[in-house]
Amino acid sequence: MNQQEKHATPLPPGPPDQFDVGDTDDSLAKLVAYFKSYGDIFRIYSPGRKVDTYVISHPDWVKHVLVTNHRNYTKGVGINRVKVLLGNGIMVSEGDFWRRQRLMIQPLFRKRAIGRFYEMMIECNQALADRWVENAISGKPVDVTEDVSEVTLEIILRAIFSEDLNALASTMGGNPFLVVAKEPARDLRFAAQFRSLKKLILEIVEQRRNKGMQRLDLLSMLMSARDKRTGEPMRDKELIDEVMTLIVAGHETSASGLNWLWYLVSQHPEIQTELQAEVDRLSSPMTAESLLGLDLVRHVIDETLRLYPPGWLITRRAIGDDVFGGFPAAPGTDILISPYLLHRHPRYWDKPEQFRPQRFAAPDAKERYRFVYLPFVAGPRHCVGESFALAEMQIHAAVVIRNLALRYIGKQPVEMEARVNLRTAHNLMFQPKLR
Ligand code: HEM
Repeated sequence: MNQQEKHATPLPPGPPDQFDVGDTDDSLAKLVAYFKSYGDIFRIYSPGRKVDTYVISHPDWVKHVLVTNHRNYTKGVGINRVKVLLGNGIMVSEGDFWRRQRLMIQPLFRKRAIGRFYEMMIECNQALADRWVENAISGKPVDVTEDVSEVTLEIILRAIFSEDLNALASTMGGNPFLVVAKEPARDLRFAAQFRSLKKLILEIVEQRRNKGMQRLDLLSMLMSARDKRTGEPMRDKELIDEVMTLIVAGHETSASGLNWLWYLVSQHPEIQTELQAEVDRLSSPMTAESLLGLDLVRHVIDETLRLYPPGWLITRRAIGDDVFGGFPAAPGTDILISPYLLHRHPRYWDKPEQFRPQRFAAPDAKERYRFVYLPFVAGPRHCVGESFALAEMQIHAAVVIRNLALRYIGKQPVEMEARVNLRTAHNLMFQPKLR
Protein backbone atom coordinates (compact mmCIF):
# COMPACT_ATOMS: atom_id res chain seq x y z
CA MET A 1 0.00 0.00 0.00
CA ASN A 2 1.45 3.37 -0.89
CA GLN A 3 1.18 6.55 1.21
CA GLN A 4 -1.73 7.82 -0.88
CA GLU A 5 -3.82 4.70 -0.28
CA LYS A 6 -3.11 4.79 3.47
CA HIS A 7 -5.01 8.05 3.83
CA ALA A 8 -8.79 8.00 3.88
CA THR A 9 -9.00 11.81 3.63
CA PRO A 10 -7.42 13.73 0.75
CA LEU A 11 -3.79 14.75 0.95
CA PRO A 12 -2.64 18.36 0.51
CA PRO A 13 -2.21 19.45 -3.11
CA GLY A 14 1.23 19.30 -4.61
CA PRO A 15 3.29 18.93 -7.78
CA PRO A 16 3.84 15.58 -9.53
CA ASP A 17 7.54 16.37 -9.16
CA GLN A 18 9.28 14.13 -6.58
CA PHE A 19 12.48 15.25 -4.89
CA ASP A 20 14.27 15.46 -1.57
CA VAL A 21 13.97 19.08 -0.50
CA GLY A 22 17.32 20.48 0.56
CA ASP A 23 19.33 17.92 -1.42
CA THR A 24 19.07 19.64 -4.81
CA ASP A 25 20.48 22.99 -5.92
CA ASP A 26 17.07 24.17 -7.09
CA SER A 27 15.13 23.23 -3.92
CA LEU A 28 14.47 26.81 -2.89
CA ALA A 29 13.46 27.93 -6.40
CA LYS A 30 11.00 25.04 -6.57
CA LEU A 31 9.54 25.81 -3.13
CA VAL A 32 9.00 29.43 -4.20
CA ALA A 33 7.23 28.31 -7.40
CA TYR A 34 5.04 25.73 -5.62
CA PHE A 35 4.16 28.19 -2.86
CA LYS A 36 2.87 30.53 -5.59
CA SER A 37 0.73 27.75 -7.07
CA TYR A 38 -0.52 25.96 -3.96
CA GLY A 39 -0.24 28.43 -1.06
CA ASP A 40 -0.06 27.66 2.67
CA ILE A 41 0.30 23.89 2.42
CA PHE A 42 1.63 21.63 -0.29
CA ARG A 43 3.00 18.14 -0.46
CA ILE A 44 6.12 16.83 -2.14
CA TYR A 45 6.86 13.11 -2.20
CA SER A 46 10.40 12.30 -1.10
CA PRO A 47 11.82 9.44 -3.18
CA GLY A 48 14.83 9.15 -0.83
CA ARG A 49 12.82 8.59 2.36
CA LYS A 50 9.69 7.28 0.64
CA VAL A 51 7.42 9.56 2.66
CA ASP A 52 5.47 12.75 2.16
CA THR A 53 6.94 16.14 2.90
CA TYR A 54 4.50 18.92 3.77
CA VAL A 55 5.62 22.51 3.30
CA ILE A 56 3.53 24.71 5.62
CA SER A 57 3.37 28.51 5.55
CA HIS A 58 0.48 29.47 7.81
CA PRO A 59 1.45 31.14 11.13
CA ASP A 60 -1.10 29.07 13.13
CA TRP A 61 0.35 25.79 11.88
CA VAL A 62 3.90 27.06 12.31
CA LYS A 63 3.11 27.88 15.94
CA HIS A 64 1.47 24.48 16.34
CA VAL A 65 4.58 22.61 15.15
CA LEU A 66 7.20 24.75 16.88
CA VAL A 67 5.44 25.56 20.14
CA THR A 68 2.02 24.12 21.00
CA ASN A 69 2.59 20.58 19.77
CA HIS A 70 6.40 20.57 19.61
CA ARG A 71 6.60 17.32 21.57
CA ASN A 72 5.16 15.54 18.55
CA TYR A 73 8.19 16.50 16.45
CA THR A 74 11.85 15.62 16.16
CA LYS A 75 14.31 17.36 13.89
CA GLY A 76 13.81 16.19 10.30
CA VAL A 77 15.42 16.13 6.87
CA GLY A 78 19.13 16.86 6.73
CA ILE A 79 19.85 16.33 10.41
CA ASN A 80 21.87 13.15 9.72
CA ARG A 81 24.34 15.14 7.64
CA VAL A 82 24.74 17.63 10.49
CA LYS A 83 25.19 14.74 12.95
CA VAL A 84 28.37 13.63 11.16
CA LEU A 85 29.98 16.90 12.18
CA LEU A 86 28.29 17.85 15.40
CA GLY A 87 27.81 14.45 17.04
CA ASN A 88 25.10 14.73 19.63
CA GLY A 89 25.44 18.48 20.30
CA ILE A 90 22.27 20.47 21.06
CA MET A 91 21.59 21.29 17.42
CA VAL A 92 21.06 17.56 16.83
CA SER A 93 20.11 15.86 20.11
CA GLU A 94 16.57 15.06 21.19
CA GLY A 95 14.44 14.35 24.25
CA ASP A 96 15.75 14.34 27.81
CA PHE A 97 19.37 14.53 26.75
CA TRP A 98 18.73 17.64 24.63
CA ARG A 99 16.76 19.25 27.50
CA ARG A 100 19.59 18.60 29.96
CA GLN A 101 22.23 20.03 27.61
CA ARG A 102 20.06 23.01 26.68
CA LEU A 103 19.54 23.88 30.36
CA MET A 104 23.27 23.82 30.93
CA ILE A 105 24.09 25.88 27.83
CA GLN A 106 21.30 28.46 27.86
CA PRO A 107 22.64 30.54 30.78
CA LEU A 108 25.88 31.16 28.86
CA PHE A 109 23.93 33.18 26.28
CA ARG A 110 21.78 35.34 28.55
CA LYS A 111 22.13 39.02 27.66
CA ARG A 112 24.01 39.73 30.88
CA ALA A 113 26.45 36.87 30.29
CA ILE A 114 27.31 37.84 26.71
CA GLY A 115 27.99 41.46 27.73
CA ARG A 116 31.51 40.35 28.64
CA PHE A 117 32.19 39.71 24.93
CA TYR A 118 31.14 43.11 23.59
CA GLU A 119 34.57 44.73 23.91
CA MET A 120 36.16 41.79 22.12
CA MET A 121 33.53 42.07 19.35
CA ILE A 122 34.39 45.75 18.91
CA GLU A 123 38.12 44.97 18.83
CA CYS A 124 37.80 42.24 16.16
CA ASN A 125 35.59 44.43 13.98
CA GLN A 126 37.79 47.49 14.39
CA ALA A 127 40.77 45.39 13.25
CA LEU A 128 38.75 44.32 10.19
CA ALA A 129 37.66 47.91 9.49
CA ASP A 130 41.32 49.03 9.75
CA ARG A 131 42.29 46.47 7.09
CA TRP A 132 39.44 47.66 4.85
CA VAL A 133 40.58 51.28 5.39
CA GLU A 134 44.01 50.28 4.01
CA ASN A 135 42.29 48.80 0.97
CA ALA A 136 40.28 51.99 0.56
CA ILE A 137 43.49 54.04 0.59
CA SER A 138 45.25 51.81 -1.93
CA GLY A 139 42.12 51.40 -4.09
CA LYS A 140 42.03 47.60 -3.67
CA PRO A 141 38.69 45.78 -3.42
CA VAL A 142 37.75 43.54 -0.49
CA ASP A 143 36.24 40.07 -0.51
CA VAL A 144 33.45 40.75 1.99
CA THR A 145 32.16 37.16 1.97
CA GLU A 146 35.53 35.81 3.03
CA ASP A 147 36.29 38.60 5.50
CA VAL A 148 32.96 38.48 7.37
CA SER A 149 33.27 34.72 7.57
CA GLU A 150 36.69 35.08 9.18
CA VAL A 151 35.65 37.80 11.60
CA THR A 152 32.57 35.92 12.85
CA LEU A 153 34.72 32.81 13.25
CA GLU A 154 37.31 34.76 15.22
CA ILE A 155 34.61 36.22 17.46
CA ILE A 156 33.03 32.90 18.38
CA LEU A 157 36.48 31.28 18.87
CA ARG A 158 37.64 34.07 21.15
CA ALA A 159 34.38 33.85 23.08
CA ILE A 160 34.98 30.12 23.57
CA PHE A 161 38.74 29.91 24.11
CA SER A 162 39.82 33.49 25.01
CA GLU A 163 43.63 33.60 25.48
CA ASP A 164 44.08 29.93 24.58
CA LEU A 165 43.27 30.78 20.97
CA ASN A 166 46.39 32.95 20.63
CA ALA A 167 48.53 30.29 22.32
CA LEU A 168 47.12 27.68 19.94
CA ALA A 169 47.69 29.86 16.89
CA SER A 170 51.33 30.51 17.81
CA THR A 171 52.09 26.81 18.48
CA MET A 172 50.29 25.66 15.34
CA GLY A 173 51.60 28.45 13.10
CA GLY A 174 48.13 29.89 12.49
CA ASN A 175 44.55 29.52 13.61
CA PRO A 176 43.79 25.79 13.24
CA PHE A 177 40.06 26.45 13.14
CA LEU A 178 40.29 28.59 9.99
CA VAL A 179 39.44 25.51 7.94
CA VAL A 180 35.86 25.89 9.20
CA ALA A 181 35.61 29.27 7.46
CA LYS A 182 37.81 28.54 4.42
CA GLU A 183 36.43 25.16 3.39
CA PRO A 184 32.83 25.49 2.22
CA ALA A 185 32.39 21.76 1.43
CA ARG A 186 30.91 19.75 4.26
CA ASP A 187 32.20 16.39 3.01
CA LEU A 188 34.20 13.46 4.42
CA ARG A 189 37.52 15.27 4.00
CA PHE A 190 36.14 18.15 6.01
CA ALA A 191 34.84 15.68 8.61
CA ALA A 192 38.39 14.27 9.00
CA GLN A 193 39.84 17.75 9.54
CA PHE A 194 37.03 18.41 11.95
CA ARG A 195 38.00 15.33 14.01
CA SER A 196 41.52 16.65 14.50
CA LEU A 197 40.03 19.92 15.77
CA LYS A 198 38.08 17.92 18.35
CA LYS A 199 41.38 16.46 19.60
CA LEU A 200 42.78 19.95 19.99
CA ILE A 201 39.79 21.01 22.08
CA LEU A 202 40.25 18.01 24.35
CA GLU A 203 43.90 19.00 24.87
CA ILE A 204 42.86 22.50 25.94
CA VAL A 205 40.22 21.06 28.29
CA GLU A 206 42.78 18.72 29.87
CA GLN A 207 45.35 21.48 30.26
CA ARG A 208 42.84 23.69 32.04
CA ARG A 209 41.81 20.82 34.29
CA ASN A 210 45.39 19.91 35.16
CA LYS A 211 46.24 23.49 36.02
CA GLY A 212 42.88 24.10 37.75
CA MET A 213 42.53 27.06 35.38
CA GLN A 214 39.30 29.07 35.00
CA ARG A 215 38.95 31.65 32.28
CA LEU A 216 36.15 34.13 31.57
CA ASP A 217 35.05 32.32 28.43
CA LEU A 218 32.41 29.92 27.14
CA LEU A 219 34.67 26.88 27.49
CA SER A 220 35.20 27.45 31.21
CA MET A 221 31.47 28.08 31.61
CA LEU A 222 30.66 24.82 29.82
CA MET A 223 33.22 22.96 31.95
CA SER A 224 31.65 24.30 35.15
CA ALA A 225 28.03 23.78 34.05
CA ARG A 226 26.20 21.17 36.11
CA ASP A 227 23.11 19.09 35.45
CA LYS A 228 20.54 20.59 37.87
CA ARG A 229 19.11 17.16 38.71
CA THR A 230 22.25 15.08 39.21
CA GLY A 231 24.89 17.74 39.83
CA GLU A 232 27.06 16.04 37.17
CA PRO A 233 29.20 17.97 34.66
CA MET A 234 29.21 17.13 30.95
CA ARG A 235 31.37 14.21 29.86
CA ASP A 236 34.32 15.07 27.61
CA LYS A 237 32.62 13.86 24.44
CA GLU A 238 29.51 15.89 25.23
CA LEU A 239 31.58 18.95 25.98
CA ILE A 240 33.46 18.66 22.69
CA ASP A 241 30.28 18.13 20.66
CA GLU A 242 28.80 21.27 22.21
CA VAL A 243 31.93 23.32 21.53
CA MET A 244 31.96 22.19 17.88
CA THR A 245 28.24 22.98 17.65
CA LEU A 246 28.79 26.51 18.90
CA ILE A 247 31.68 27.05 16.48
CA VAL A 248 29.70 25.91 13.42
CA ALA A 249 26.24 27.21 14.37
CA GLY A 250 27.74 30.40 15.75
CA HIS A 251 29.70 31.55 12.76
CA GLU A 252 28.28 30.53 9.36
CA THR A 253 24.83 31.96 9.99
CA SER A 254 26.05 35.34 11.26
CA ALA A 255 28.52 35.50 8.37
CA SER A 256 25.78 34.85 5.76
CA GLY A 257 23.64 37.53 7.40
CA LEU A 258 26.40 40.13 7.23
CA ASN A 259 27.32 39.23 3.67
CA TRP A 260 23.72 39.84 2.56
CA LEU A 261 23.52 42.98 4.68
CA TRP A 262 26.37 44.69 2.82
CA TYR A 263 24.89 43.71 -0.52
CA LEU A 264 21.45 45.10 0.37
CA VAL A 265 22.83 48.30 1.88
CA SER A 266 25.02 48.90 -1.19
CA GLN A 267 21.91 48.63 -3.41
CA HIS A 268 20.04 51.25 -1.35
CA PRO A 269 22.14 54.45 -1.18
CA GLU A 270 19.37 56.31 0.67
CA ILE A 271 19.50 53.74 3.52
CA GLN A 272 23.29 53.89 3.51
CA THR A 273 23.11 57.67 4.00
CA GLU A 274 20.61 57.33 6.86
CA LEU A 275 22.77 54.68 8.50
CA GLN A 276 25.81 56.93 8.29
CA ALA A 277 23.85 59.78 9.87
CA GLU A 278 22.71 57.54 12.72
CA VAL A 279 26.22 56.25 13.41
CA ASP A 280 27.71 59.76 13.13
CA ARG A 281 25.42 60.99 15.91
CA LEU A 282 27.29 58.71 18.34
CA SER A 283 29.74 60.45 20.57
CA SER A 284 33.37 59.30 20.73
CA PRO A 285 34.62 56.91 21.97
CA MET A 286 32.03 54.33 20.94
CA THR A 287 30.75 52.08 23.69
CA ALA A 288 29.04 48.76 23.22
CA GLU A 289 25.87 50.18 24.78
CA SER A 290 25.78 53.08 22.32
CA LEU A 291 26.41 50.79 19.34
CA LEU A 292 23.72 48.39 20.45
CA GLY A 293 21.24 51.24 20.84
CA LEU A 294 21.27 52.18 17.13
CA ASP A 295 17.70 51.59 15.97
CA LEU A 296 18.18 51.85 12.22
CA VAL A 297 21.19 49.52 12.27
CA ARG A 298 19.02 47.01 14.11
CA HIS A 299 16.13 47.38 11.64
CA VAL A 300 18.52 46.90 8.72
CA ILE A 301 19.70 43.66 10.32
CA ASP A 302 16.10 42.52 10.92
CA GLU A 303 15.18 43.32 7.32
CA THR A 304 18.26 41.55 5.95
CA LEU A 305 17.40 38.43 7.95
CA ARG A 306 13.83 38.72 6.63
CA LEU A 307 14.82 38.79 2.95
CA TYR A 308 17.70 36.33 3.27
CA PRO A 309 17.23 34.19 6.40
CA PRO A 310 20.42 32.09 6.76
CA GLY A 311 18.29 29.29 8.24
CA TRP A 312 15.98 29.19 5.22
CA LEU A 313 14.59 25.71 5.92
CA ILE A 314 13.43 24.36 9.26
CA THR A 315 12.76 20.64 9.21
CA ARG A 316 10.70 18.59 11.63
CA ARG A 317 9.44 14.98 11.54
CA ALA A 318 6.07 13.94 12.99
CA ILE A 319 6.22 11.26 15.70
CA GLY A 320 2.45 10.73 15.92
CA ASP A 321 -0.52 11.72 13.78
CA ASP A 322 -1.25 15.39 13.26
CA VAL A 323 -3.52 17.48 11.08
CA PHE A 324 -3.13 20.76 9.19
CA GLY A 325 -6.22 22.55 7.90
CA GLY A 326 -8.06 19.21 7.62
CA PHE A 327 -5.14 17.44 5.92
CA PRO A 328 -3.82 14.54 8.00
CA ALA A 329 -0.07 14.11 8.52
CA ALA A 330 0.89 10.50 9.25
CA PRO A 331 3.75 9.62 11.62
CA GLY A 332 7.06 10.01 9.75
CA THR A 333 5.80 12.88 7.60
CA ASP A 334 8.44 15.56 7.22
CA ILE A 335 7.09 19.01 7.97
CA LEU A 336 9.06 21.83 6.42
CA ILE A 337 8.79 25.44 7.48
CA SER A 338 10.67 27.83 5.26
CA PRO A 339 11.40 31.22 6.85
CA TYR A 340 12.24 32.35 3.30
CA LEU A 341 8.62 31.72 2.19
CA LEU A 342 7.07 33.01 5.41
CA HIS A 343 9.17 36.18 5.34
CA ARG A 344 7.85 37.03 1.87
CA HIS A 345 4.27 35.84 2.37
CA PRO A 346 2.13 38.49 0.61
CA ARG A 347 -0.73 38.08 3.12
CA TYR A 348 1.43 39.30 5.99
CA TRP A 349 4.01 41.60 4.46
CA ASP A 350 3.51 44.85 2.59
CA LYS A 351 5.66 44.87 -0.60
CA PRO A 352 7.46 41.75 0.62
CA GLU A 353 10.16 41.77 -2.08
CA GLN A 354 11.34 45.27 -1.19
CA PHE A 355 14.11 46.12 1.25
CA ARG A 356 12.32 48.39 3.73
CA PRO A 357 13.98 48.32 7.16
CA GLN A 358 11.45 50.88 8.48
CA ARG A 359 8.76 48.18 8.62
CA PHE A 360 10.44 46.97 11.81
CA ALA A 361 10.16 50.44 13.37
CA ALA A 362 6.36 50.14 13.72
CA PRO A 363 5.45 49.91 17.43
CA ASP A 364 3.40 46.75 16.84
CA ALA A 365 6.00 45.09 14.54
CA LYS A 366 6.93 42.35 17.01
CA GLU A 367 3.32 41.35 17.57
CA ARG A 368 2.28 41.75 13.94
CA TYR A 369 5.00 39.50 12.54
CA ARG A 370 4.89 36.80 15.22
CA PHE A 371 5.18 33.39 13.54
CA VAL A 372 5.73 34.91 10.11
CA TYR A 373 9.17 36.26 11.06
CA LEU A 374 11.40 33.44 12.23
CA PRO A 375 15.09 34.01 11.49
CA PHE A 376 15.94 32.37 14.82
CA VAL A 377 12.88 30.05 14.87
CA ALA A 378 10.58 29.99 17.90
CA GLY A 379 9.65 27.65 20.71
CA PRO A 380 11.89 25.53 22.90
CA ARG A 381 14.42 24.92 20.10
CA HIS A 382 14.86 28.55 19.12
CA CYS A 383 18.40 29.69 18.44
CA VAL A 384 20.30 29.73 21.70
CA GLY A 385 22.79 32.26 20.29
CA GLU A 386 20.23 34.86 19.10
CA SER A 387 21.35 37.70 21.39
CA PHE A 388 25.00 36.93 20.72
CA ALA A 389 24.39 36.96 16.95
CA LEU A 390 22.42 40.21 17.00
CA ALA A 391 25.06 41.91 19.12
CA GLU A 392 27.95 40.86 16.88
CA MET A 393 26.07 41.87 13.72
CA GLN A 394 25.09 45.22 15.17
CA ILE A 395 28.60 45.98 16.39
CA HIS A 396 30.11 44.89 13.06
CA ALA A 397 27.76 47.05 10.98
CA ALA A 398 28.19 50.13 13.18
CA VAL A 399 31.99 49.93 13.36
CA VAL A 400 32.30 49.52 9.58
CA ILE A 401 29.80 52.30 8.77
CA ARG A 402 31.67 54.66 11.07
CA ASN A 403 34.81 54.21 8.97
CA LEU A 404 33.77 53.34 5.45
CA ALA A 405 31.19 53.10 2.69
CA LEU A 406 31.16 49.88 0.65
CA ARG A 407 30.38 49.88 -3.08
CA TYR A 408 29.41 46.54 -4.59
CA ILE A 409 31.51 45.81 -7.70
CA GLY A 410 30.58 42.18 -8.47
CA LYS A 411 28.18 40.79 -11.02
CA GLN A 412 24.43 41.35 -10.92
CA PRO A 413 22.08 39.91 -9.96
CA VAL A 414 23.61 38.11 -7.02
CA GLU A 415 22.57 34.45 -7.00
CA MET A 416 21.49 32.56 -3.91
CA GLU A 417 22.84 29.19 -2.85
CA ALA A 418 20.41 27.45 -0.52
CA ARG A 419 22.09 24.48 1.14
CA VAL A 420 22.57 24.24 4.90
CA ASN A 421 22.55 28.04 4.99
CA LEU A 422 21.24 30.59 2.52
CA ARG A 423 24.45 32.00 1.09
CA THR A 424 25.48 33.95 -1.98
CA ALA A 425 26.51 31.56 -4.76
CA HIS A 426 29.76 33.52 -5.25
CA ASN A 427 31.93 35.62 -3.00
CA LEU A 428 30.91 39.29 -3.01
CA MET A 429 33.55 41.89 -3.87
CA PHE A 430 33.24 45.50 -2.73
CA GLN A 431 35.31 48.64 -3.13
CA PRO A 432 35.64 50.34 0.25
CA LYS A 433 35.73 54.13 0.32
CA LEU A 434 36.87 56.32 3.21
CA ARG A 435 34.12 58.47 4.71
C1 HEM B 1 22.35 35.44 12.29
C2 HEM B 1 22.80 34.46 13.01
C3 HEM B 1 22.04 33.21 13.35
C4 HEM B 1 20.91 32.70 12.78
C5 HEM B 1 20.09 33.26 11.63
C6 HEM B 1 20.60 31.48 13.49
C7 HEM B 1 19.52 30.67 13.21
C8 HEM B 1 19.21 29.52 13.91
C9 HEM B 1 18.09 28.68 13.61
C10 HEM B 1 17.11 28.93 12.48
C11 HEM B 1 18.10 27.65 14.49
C12 HEM B 1 17.07 26.53 14.63
C13 HEM B 1 17.35 25.37 13.76
C14 HEM B 1 16.24 24.34 13.90
O1 HEM B 1 15.47 24.35 14.84
O2 HEM B 1 16.18 23.49 13.02
C15 HEM B 1 19.24 27.83 15.35
C16 HEM B 1 19.57 26.99 16.37
C17 HEM B 1 20.75 27.09 17.06
N1 HEM B 1 21.67 28.13 17.00
FE1 HEM B 1 21.54 29.75 15.83
N2 HEM B 1 21.55 31.26 14.45
C18 HEM B 1 22.44 32.31 14.41
C19 HEM B 1 23.54 32.48 15.22
C20 HEM B 1 23.92 31.63 16.22
C21 HEM B 1 25.03 31.85 17.12
C22 HEM B 1 25.93 33.08 17.12
C23 HEM B 1 25.11 30.75 17.92
C24 HEM B 1 26.07 30.43 19.05
C25 HEM B 1 27.03 31.19 19.45
C26 HEM B 1 24.04 29.84 17.54
C27 HEM B 1 23.79 28.63 18.11
C28 HEM B 1 22.70 27.84 17.86
C29 HEM B 1 22.45 26.56 18.51
C30 HEM B 1 23.35 25.87 19.51
C31 HEM B 1 21.21 26.09 18.02
C32 HEM B 1 20.50 24.80 18.40
C33 HEM B 1 19.52 25.09 19.53
C34 HEM B 1 18.71 23.89 19.96
O3 HEM B 1 18.31 23.09 19.12
O4 HEM B 1 18.44 23.81 21.16
N3 HEM B 1 23.33 30.42 16.52
N4 HEM B 1 19.90 28.98 14.98
